[in-house]
Order: sequence, then structure tokens, then C-alpha cells
Amino acid sequence: MTPPRKLHIKSYGCQMNVYDAQRMVDTLAPEGFVETASAEDADLVILNTCHIREKASEKVYSELGRLRTAKDEAARGGRTMQIAVAGCVAQAEGEEIVRRAPVDVVVGPQSYHHLPELLKRASHDGRAIETEFPAADKFGFLAQPKPEAIRARGISAFVTVQEGCDKFCTFCVVPYTRGAEVSRPVAKILDDVKRLADNGVRELTLIGQNVNAYHGEGPDGQSWPLGKLLEHLSQVPGIARLRYSTSHPRDVDDSLIAAHRDLDALMPFVHLPVQSGSDRILSAMNRKHTADDYRRVIDRFRAARQDIAFSSDFIVGFPGETEEDFRATLALVTQIGYAAAYSFKYSARPGTPAADLQETVSLAEMDQRLERLQGLIDSQQSAFNKAAIGTTVDVLFEREARKEGQIVGRTAYLQPAHVMASPDIIGKTLPVRIDSLERYSLLGELATKPVAREAALSSMATGA
Ligand code: SAH
Ligand code: SF4
Ligand code: F3S
Repeated sequence: MTPPRKLHIKSYGCQMNVYDAQRMVDTLAPEGFVETASAEDADLVILNTCHIREKASEKVYSELGRLRTAKDEAARGGRTMQIAVAGCVAQAEGEEIVRRAPVDVVVGPQSYHHLPELLKRASHDGRAIETEFPAADKFGFLAQPKPEAIRARGISAFVTVQEGCDKFCTFCVVPYTRGAEVSRPVAKILDDVKRLADNGVRELTLIGQNVNAYHGEGPDGQSWPLGKLLEHLSQVPGIARLRYSTSHPRDVDDSLIAAHRDLDALMPFVHLPVQSGSDRILSAMNRKHTADDYRRVIDRFRAARQDIAFSSDFIVGFPGETEEDFRATLALVTQIGYAAAYSFKYSARPGTPAADLQETVSLAEMDQRLERLQGLIDSQQSAFNKAAIGTTVDVLFEREARKEGQIVGRTAYLQPAHVMASPDIIGKTLPVRIDSLERYSLLGELATKPVAREAALSSMATGA
């Protein structure tokens, strides 16, 4: 028997990269690869990269610089270390990567099922690059995780249901790096979900670059919207919680709203990026909706589910953004009231339409706007978290915490919640009486009485 080969994989960027990394590990397991925590002793290092902003992209090259040393060191010890670059930078800059660094394999997101073959080709030819968008569905070829792998990954899992994007926001590289929107068939997703649930997964996050554009083929041969898929998956025994990410405001249909009204398992927390509160900027971004359209979408969710809360993404300093436009963003944030949000400085990305626009906001102004926006978001987030103190909320317990005897789980709103309890509670959803807040973590005690969720949670929804 050949000894196992060690694989180290490092992911940057979004949840889909986290999921893809697991599928690469699963696909390489039958080839004899086992995961290792350090790059230095690995036989294969995969960097699973992100191209979304310049900073994210640049990280790859500094990491490759470090790996060059490790690779040379391994060679001096008579060992071969292969280096592979996967993810969105691989897709966008494949040729440049091999020019700049000692990389053996470059593999784009749609070709991960070819990894075993690419590694062999690289051993033979010195190098293998694959950044095509093959016609065949990679999901059909990626190996399934072994039961032990699922258990080791914990009770909360991601499942890709949709990949790619047809929206072409003018600032964004995703339509180019991930390709056109593709939805997986319901039956395939159901198989994956059953396997996960049978091996202890209790919480599922359906992921896609534009997950609510989902339109996969259902068992009836019809195209199913996301709401219907969620309803179907909520019936899988063992699945206690469902989430989905990331949605686009334009694709919120009645089936999704109905799912929030009807499904107990569907968590009342939605990531719904808006990017800006100014119609002028939204139009320049090609978001295809106005700030008012977005407000109306939020209203529809709230009408269906009173305890629903939202998070969002924002970009400050998009070309042409004036102080007045930026104030419209602050006004929108004030009006909606977020439980959390991410904000970014605009980063011009090669190949996107916005990269041709004259940048008008200086870095100093961007910094200043970012600070103001983050200040507002932080105050909303801490108000939201503080509102939990004194209430009893459902917590799905995930793992032992760093502090001895403490178990950590998450509320419906993804807030970490800590209690002192036995590890037996991992995988269970239990009511917790929240006593205090430590930075972003809630601390509490297991409550004896089951919680009346509507009553307890509605006081926590923001906006007030
Ligand atoms: N598919 C999701 C998320 C895309 S990337 C969506 O449609 O919302 C995640 C976030 O990164 C985006 O929501 C946006 O806020 C930010 N982002 C994308 N491109 C960017 C760029 N060129 N500069 C700064 N932020 C960017
Ligand atoms: Fe990028 Fe826009 Fe598609 Fe989101 S919807 S992935 S921001 S192009
Ligand atoms: Fe980054 Fe690609 Fe995800 S650019 S955010 S890794 S889709």
C-alpha cells in the first residue's frame, strides 16, 4: 500500500470556496490524500483563491511567495511538494500565476472534478492548467464525502444548489470567474442532503452566488423556485434549520416569501445585499433595482415573518458616488435596521465595466465613508445583540467552546451563544435564557421551559 499523501488546502473568499474546498478534499481522498494542518509538510498545497477585490487577489501572490520557500525546502529534503491554485483568481489570472510563481496546477472552479488527472499530468509534464467552462456538470463527477468526513465537519453544512451569475453588476468579477448561472436538479440536492442528515448534519445553508435565482429541475420535470426547494428539504428527517445565501433583491419571488411564512425550519435571517441606497449609483452599478424596490422587498419579508432580520453588503466610493449618494446609503441603513452588514471600499477589477469609469472618490474619502457606514452598522448590530439579553431564544449547539465545560451554538440570527453544559447537547436545538453579551457572543443558561419562539424573538427583530 502506498503511504497516504498529505494535502493542505487554504480557502479565501466566500462560503462557496469553503464548500468547494471540502469537495476537493473528498475528490482527492480516493487518491490517497489526507488533510494536514500545515503547508510545510504537505505533498500537495491547494490555494483556493478569491478575486473579488484587489486585496483578496494580491494575497495569493504573497502566499505563493511563502510556498516557494517551502517547496524548495521540501526539494532539498528529497520530497516533492506540488502547488495548485484553484478558485476565482485561478480562473481570472491562470496564465499570470504560472508566470509569477512555481505553480504545478491551475484549476478553475468548474473543473475541480479533474483535479486527480491534472495532478498526474503536472507530475508528468511539469505543469497543468485548466480554466475552461466544461459542458459536463462537475457535480456529477465530484466524489461524495465519506461519513467520517461529514461527521468531522460538524452539524452545520453548506450545499451548493446554484452556481454562477447572470446579473453582471458593473463592479463584479463573479459572472466571469464562476460563469453563467446553473441550478442543480432537486433530486441530486436531496441525495446530498439526506447523506448529510444521516451523518449528523442538523443545519443546512443552501449556497449560490445568486441563490434565489435557483430554478433547478424538480422531480416533476418542472423548474422549481428556491421556496419550493426549501419546502422539500425541510421534510428531510434530521434537518432542523435551513438557511440560504446569497440572494439578490430582484429574485425574491412569492415562493420564497411563502417559505418564510410557512416553514419553521427556515431561519428568519436573510442576507440581502443592496450595495448602495442611491438610485443613481444603483443604476450605474447595473443592479436593476431602486432603493425603493429594495424597501418593498424588505416589507414583503417582514409582512410574512415578523421576527425576520436582515444583513447586507455595501460598497462605498463607487465611481461617481457623491456625498449626497452616500447619505442616501446611510438613510437606507437607518431605515431598514440591520442585524449585521459588511461594507467594502470600491475596488476596480480588471475586465469589469466599472473599471473603465473614472474613479472620483479619493482613498481618504472612501476610508472616511467606510468608517461612518461601519459606525452606523455597528451600532445597529450591538442594539440587535443587546435586545437578546433577558429573552429566551432557541440555540442549535455546534461544538465545545474554548472555555472548559462551555458549549457554543448559534441563535436563529447566527449570533454565537455560550452555555455551561454537557457535550451531549451538541446537535440539539434548546431554549437558552440570555444573560449577557460579551463582544459579539451571547452568554446564557439552558432554560427549562421550551420557548414560545414568536414571542421571544419578535422583540429582537430590528427596525425599532
Ligand atoms: N453574489 C452576491 C455577493 C457577491 S461578492 C451578491 O450578489 O450580492 C460579495 C460582496 O463583495 C458584494 O456584495 C459586494 O458588496 C462586494 N464586492 C463585489 N465586487 C466588489 C468590488 N469590485 N469592490 C468592492 N466590493 C465588491
Ligand atoms: Fe456579482 Fe452582482 Fe452577480 Fe452578486 S449579483 S455575484 S454582485 S454580478
Ligand atoms: Fe471570491 Fe469567487 Fe467567491 S471571487 S467571493 S471566491 S465567487
